[in-house]
Amino acid sequence: MVTPDNPQIAPLRDLDEWEDDLLRRYPEKPGTGHKFRDYEAEARPGVRDFYRLNHRYQTMEFVREKRAEYLPLQKRSMTVWEAMEFLNTLVDDSDPDIDLPQIEHLMQTAEAIRRDGHPRWFILTGLIHDLGKILCLFGEPQWAVVGDTYPLGCRFSEKIVYPEFFADNPDSTRPDYSSPLGIYKEGCGLDQVTMSWGHDEYLYHVVRNHLPAPALYMIRYHSCYPIHKEEEYGYLMNEQDREMFSWVRAFNPYDLYTKSSERVDVAALRPFYEDLIDEYLPGRLAW
Ligand SMILES: [Fe+2]
Ligand SMILES: [Fe+2]
Repeated sequence: MVTPDNPQIAPLRDLDEWEDDLLRRYPEKPGTGHKFRDYEAEARPGVRDFYRLNHRYQTMEFVREKRAEYLPLQKRSMTVWEAMEFLNTLVDDSDPDIDLPQIEHLMQTAEAIRRDGHPRWFILTGLIHDLGKILCLFGEPQWAVVGDTYPLGCRFSEKIVYPEFFADNPDSTRPDYSSPLGIYKEGCGLDQVTMSWGHDEYLYHVVRNHLPAPALYMIRYHSCYPIHKEEEYGYLMNEQDREMFSWVRAFNPYDLYTKSSERVDVAALRPFYEDLIDEYLPGRLAW
């Protein structure tokens, strides 16, 4: 396992533990055919510790630093397939009941989208949506890679998971960030809003010139549960955001509810996905 064994950096056993906790918070509606193990009513202690760190340290200043560090995209040059294989090195498979290699989560997501007859760019979005998690391999702590994302520079919504932990965030006592709109104008659009830093925003910048708008919204906001599930922060959104969030919501079940212990045959599926990658994201990309 690459993630350092340090509770300040890695309170989660692995990155999947955050997504497992999402299933506890947002269980699939009955009758949809998928079976998941029972989730205890309370989050695991590691998940609470994870959000305690996330909410304390995701400040406007922190995000500015990370954007300056990563958005020039000068860390690596890799094809999409190479990035998938790189991400796979993150996996701890000491507990095979819980952990699936990341590449399998990506392919299970993509295959479910494909089975439902969606367009090719939508299938590709499923395949790549979590590649930004390679931030962990660049040494970022878990709380700066995964977890629900949310706007900074304005009041933290009470509907963000564990809102009480924002008391430790220095931004929460800044008067300029404490009104509902904070530093923003009503209806300014989410593109103008600084979101907490994580794998969504990073991957968005890697692929932003190559995919249609709905795909970019799915990638950029798929972890933004306070908006796409809780419907908070509507006053920051513009007309395009409202329209495009229907795509983010269409994507979410494929992300959350397609994990299964059934293995996917990566080698057999590879030619289909190599073609798909070549269609939209050929060659090496800047990461
Ligand atoms: Fe994700
Ligand atoms: Fe995902």
